[in-house]
Amino acid sequence: MTKTLTVNPTNPDPATMLEAARIIGRGGLVAFPTETVYGLGANGLDTAAVGRIFAAKMRPSSDPLILHVSSSDDFAQVAVLNGLEGIVSRLAAQFMPGALTLVLPKQARVPLTVTAGGSSVAVRVPNHAVALALIAASGVPIAAPSANLFSRPSPTSASAVLEDLAGRIDAVLDGGETQIGVESTVLSLIGAPTLLRPGGVALEDLEALIGEVLLPNEAVLSERVAQPAPGMLLKHYSPRAKLLLVEHGADLEQRVKSAARGATGKLGLLLPSHSLEWLLEVPAERVDLGATPVQIAARLFAGMRALDAAGCDAILTHQLEGTGLGRALNDRLFRAASGNVIQG
Ligand code: TXA
Ligand code: MG
Repeated sequence: MTKTLTVNPTNPDPATMLEAARIIGRGGLVAFPTETVYGLGANGLDTAAVGRIFAAKMRPSSDPLILHVSSSDDFAQVAVLNGLEGIVSRLAAQFMPGALTLVLPKQARVPLTVTAGGSSVAVRVPNHAVALALIAASGVPIAAPSANLFSRPSPTSASAVLEDLAGRIDAVLDGGETQIGVESTVLSLIGAPTLLRPGGVALEDLEALIGEVLLPNEAVLSERVAQPAPGMLLKHYSPRAKLLLVEHGADLEQRVKSAARGATGKLGLLLPSHSLEWLLEVPAERVDLGATPVQIAARLFAGMRALDAAGCDAILTHQLEGTGLGRALNDRLFRAASGNVIQG
């Protein structure tokens, strides 16, 4: 049985948070909201508890987890900052708490199950009162991947968590819908700063603060080499329906229309408001993603789940302008489509 603990997202009840923290304390699993997506939390210093996260999600043990802490001052408890204090404190001053995860050399006390056997650890300070209250009440770093079954769209509500994990976890803290809707940006500070996953903090904003950030190369994207960040696996964040992903660019309207004509089976449309207007005559289930990248991010994963629930065989969508938050959105769409992009 998975217990639902309903909390006020901005001012969670201390008694409820204590109940959740007790579950964490005895090695259990509690899903909780962050500003990005819901996380599936366990005591990040307890090897057995962390093992339960992998089992509940059916996640391969080769995928390392993020440790969530209350403040960047706590990074030193789990990471080795030697020589990195300056860059970490500049990033923290601008982006923390927030949707930025840093990969740093790990402290010996961090279990190897957390880091998938590696010598680095990912750390983040979530910008959500419920997540911060859970960390504080538990008194330990909380290891938490997104609270979905492996390779499914990340959950942006407690009901999406339960869709995947009901009966597999002890509790979910229901604090309503998450604000950002895509996961944190993962930035490695091992060697030259490298973007391992685009996310809620834009690459442009990182570069404005710390200078050039390297991008993972094409070989990594196409999985020909070992994964620096398994969130980069090609098939990831996928709906059950086949995603028909049209590349952004010239003649977008014509190409979207022709993809709609070519689709077979029950069709779902997962599109920004203005693109939905191109397909008014097409019989389909519709999800309106809104107008701006911020709105699209907030609705993207829930939209995939809604069209799956409506029984769609195919979901038609298109890529966006690839700057700012659009880079993260295009990344999630590309992976949801297993890299199959419909070109011009
Ligand atoms: O917004 C988020 O980051 C959410 C919320 C719950 O905090 N969490 C999340 O976790 O998205 P997950 O496990 O779904 O994605 C974590 C990403 C993966 O791409 C993983 O490979 C990468 O972070 N990662 C974790 N530890 C790493 C490490 N030591 N080195 C490189 N990449 C790492
Ligand atoms: Mg995930």
